[in-house]
Order: sequence, then C-alpha cells, then structure tokens
Amino acid sequence: MNFKKKMFGWMDMLRFKKLVPNRRAEFDKAPATKIPDTYKVNSIAKILHPGNQKATLTGIATETSDTKTYTFSLERKMFFRAGQYVELTAEIDGAVVSRPYAISSSPYKALREKELSVTVKKAGFFSNWLFDNAKVGDEMIIGDPSGFFHYEAIKDEKTVVGIAGGSGITPFYSMAQAIKEGSEDFNLILIYGAKTEKDIAFKDRLDALASGKIKVVYVLSDEKNDKYEHGFITKEIIKKYAPEKYTVMACGPQAMYAFLDKELAAMGIGGKRVKKEANCVGVRDVKKAVYTLTVHIRDEVYTVKADNRETVLVAMERAGLRVPSKCRAGGCGFCHSKLVSGKFSIAGADKRRLADLKFGYIHPCCSYPDSDMELIVPAGLE
Ligand code: FES
Repeated sequence: MNFKKKMFGWMDMLRFKKLVPNRRAEFDKAPATKIPDTYKVNSIAKILHPGNQKATLTGIATETSDTKTYTFSLERKMFFRAGQYVELTAEIDGAVVSRPYAISSSPYKALREKELSVTVKKAGFFSNWLFDNAKVGDEMIIGDPSGFFHYEAIKDEKTVVGIAGGSGITPFYSMAQAIKEGSEDFNLILIYGAKTEKDIAFKDRLDALASGKIKVVYVLSDEKNDKYEHGFITKEIIKKYAPEKYTVMACGPQAMYAFLDKELAAMGIGGKRVKKEANCVGVRDVKKAVYTLTVHIRDEVYTVKADNRETVLVAMERAGLRVPSKCRAGGCGFCHSKLVSGKFSIAGADKRRLADLKFGYIHPCCSYPDSDMELIVPAGLE
C-alpha cells in the first residue's frame, strides 16, 4: 500500500515536470492563424436572439389614408419568422414608450441587409406620435422578434387560408414575400377584407406576388366592384377559394374575429386549425375612477395614479416608469408582475401560465385596476 502511494506520487511529479514542455509542444503544433474574435456559433446566437438594438428610420411610405410603413436600418442582422412582430421603443416627451408592431418586410431583408419595416395603423398614442412626428434619421430601439403567428410545418396544413382585415394584412404580406424568396414553404390563399379599393394596403406588391403558391382575394365591404368580392369574409367566400384541407390564420380587428368565429363554427372549423393574432388591449368602457398603484422596481418604490379605464401597464408608462412589455395582449408573459395587494379585472381570457396563477403574478398589460394596488415589477429597458 505504502509502495503504491510512493509510486503514484512519483508518477505525478513526472507528469508535472512534463506539463510545460508538453503544452509548448501542443502550441507548436497549432496553426499560426489568429484566433477568431468571435466564433460562428456565437454570431448565429446573436442573430437568433439580437436583443434590443438601435435602429435608424430610413423611410416612411404611405400605404392608405391611415396606414404607413416605417423602414429601419438595423444595427445588427436579425432572424425572424414571417408573421412575427417587434417592439418599437422611442422617447416621447421624456417618457420611454413601446408598442409591438407586425413586421411587414421579408426575413431576407433583415438577415442579409439589416433592414426591417413595420406597418402601422394610425390609432393610439404611440402610432399617432409616429404619424405626426417621426422623420427619416430618427433613432429608435427595436426589440427581439416575438410571437407565434407564423407557419408551423409540424402542425399546420400545407395550405394556409389567411384572413386579413384592414392593417391585419401586414404579417401576411411578410409571409407572401417569405414564400416567394423561399424562406417559408407553404401555400397561402389570402382573403383580404377592406372597406374600399383605396383602403387596400400593398395592393400592387401583393398582385405582383400572387402566383404559384400565393393567391390573393380582395373582399370590399363598402364598395361594389366587379374585380372584387363584396361584403364580409363569409363562409361562402372561404369555401369558394379554400381547398379541402387547410389551416386558418386570421389577423384583424376584434369585430372581424367575432364575425369569423361564427362563420368558422358553422363550417365545423376550430381548435388547432385556427390561429388568430391577438390585438393589443385597449381602454375599457366603465365609469372613470382613479386608484393609486404602489410599484416596487428593484430597490425603488413609486406611487402612481391609475385611471381604471386603462391597463396597469399604461398607468405605469404614463408615470414614466420603465417596465417590460412585448405583446400587450396577455400572451407573452413578458410583463408579468407579482401582485402584493389589490383587485383587478382581466381584459378577455386569462392567459396567465399556471405558475403565474399559483404564485400570484398578473399581466399588467391586460389588467385593469379595480382598487388601489401594490405590485413588484421587473425592471424594463435600461
Ligand atoms: S406584454 Fe405580453 S403578456 Fe404582457
């Protein structure tokens, strides 16, 4: 036993003595090329998860009387799935304000040319500010691409019937470009509802894309014209253009969803065959009351006034607090905050995860205050 210990100790000494010459020999064998500043895997990770980045506004194009496309030059390449959205952040009157907007450009442009466009309908505080104030050369922040409103080959049919209302055409326009450039592979039958011919966004570009895997049908509600379908997007119109098997993807205003739900139910279509893009939560129609929010962010405590018609998130933003948000529709969970006390109502369905429910978290983006509240909120964009 003693002998063995001595023997191993001596061998360790020998290895130790050879450590430096062995390392030198390994160094000598290595090629005399510079170690890369970054490895490919890191640059791919950076493209997949670009995080917040500076973006310079390079173009503003009018699409319809109330819709404009804003094109940005990105700091870094970005990968996104056609149909996703990004969060746009700007400083407005000293407050940092963010809104999610659907991407209208193609994935190729963001990945190869560091260019990204969002198409915005003039409605709400941020969009109005963009319409009235944004100018070429302005710098804003663009966040990670997010959302699940994109084609999923593993569960979607090979043909998607895309139903768009108004500016809800935006993600489908990105999808049509992606199909054409080959970064998405499915058949898209796009049924696009607008009030009049003048309200059709991207018309010339959609017409140019419509061939092969892409078909576009326009449905005008307020104008009769032989070139287009007339009325709302009914089950008869869907049946007329859809093949036997298809997945429905819909993006548009809440009123369109309410109508579409009935039409699809009458056709026996629902469940996983239907995907709808959620709309940002707006104001609620109740008698005005003002409550006090006590907000803990890291080591700071803020007292904020909250109008009960607006969400808790809007109240915090109005007070200039930098708090996290992405979808503003209750779906992503990015804004989730711990409720210490107080009552609230949720806009629409409660989309919180089970863990959030169990541990007392709420989504301020879709919660209206019904009393004074106290919350612990994660810090937002620095
Ligand atoms: S911002 Fe997505 S859940 Fe609140």
